[in-house]
Amino acid sequence: MRSIHNAVREQFSQHADYYAQSSAHATGDTLNMLLDFAEPKGTELTLDIATGTGFTAFAFAPKVEHVVATDLTPEMVAKAVELAQEQAIKNVAFSVAAAESLPFATASLDLVTCRLAPHHFQDVPAFLSEVHRVLRTNGLFCMTDSVSPESEKLSAWQNRVEKMRDDSHVYGYPPSQWDEMIADAGFVLEKTAHARNALLSFLWWVRPEKNPPEVVRNIRDAFVQLSPEEAKEHYTVCPAGEDFYFSWPMYAVKARRV
Ligand SMILES: C[S@@+](CC[C@H](N)C(=O)[O-])C[C@H]1O[C@@H](n2cnc3c(N)ncnc32)[C@H](O)[C@@H]1O
Repeated sequence: MRSIHNAVREQFSQHADYYAQSSAHATGDTLNMLLDFAEPKGTELTLDIATGTGFTAFAFAPKVEHVVATDLTPEMVAKAVELAQEQAIKNVAFSVAAAESLPFATASLDLVTCRLAPHHFQDVPAFLSEVHRVLRTNGLFCMTDSVSPESEKLSAWQNRVEKMRDDSHVYGYPPSQWDEMIADAGFVLEKTAHARNALLSFLWWVRPEKNPPEVVRNIRDAFVQLSPEEAKEHYTVCPAGEDFYFSWPMYAVKARRV
């Protein structure tokens, strides 16, 4: 069986250019949410995990002392390096690293951020334990990701649909499970917030250029099987001719290492 790390690298190595131009990822509420949660003072040694092409690292760079931006996919890191040079951002360094095994000394950092990525992580408890290890006492962990509803049925539905579309998807946990895992790793939760990502066009999101027609059909059928209430309340589904728009629930967390 292909490991999840291989699936992630295969998936993201092909999309570094596209990702770097994606306004949905470059901006958005979740970026501001992380900045609000972190309240940087300008002195923080910061780590941005699964930085992709660096959007979160670049948003924090002018507000902290230094950022190290890491990602599992070398092509994403290479693109982030190129963008940092273009934008003359001097206080960000880059490194290829897995979230579950961080190449940093224990208690060496003030702030760790992670945005829109943990649903791809092979081992979330290992990731959280590594974040806890590298943060100094009282250091902050600010994270945001897509999550699934608390209902077991809908959580299973959403994760099945996401996996059908992209086999680098591992699991979008419901918020209560995130709270539990973060507390189990030794953090104190200080703030949480619910949000939604921007509306996605189904026909764009389902990647018809990559997924065969029967997979696209199966995913569309899965949406049809939601009750009208589930579709509206949890996924803001709205029809648009042959297409429809929807969004995933998002969750943001501010947690302190004690
Ligand atoms: C949606 S993108 C990055 C989002 C980025 N944080 C941002 O704010 O724009 C997800 C990234 O997670 C990375 N990734 C997935 N699994 C990972 C892991 N286990 N360790 C480190 N990076 C990982 C992928 O290579 C990809 O670049």
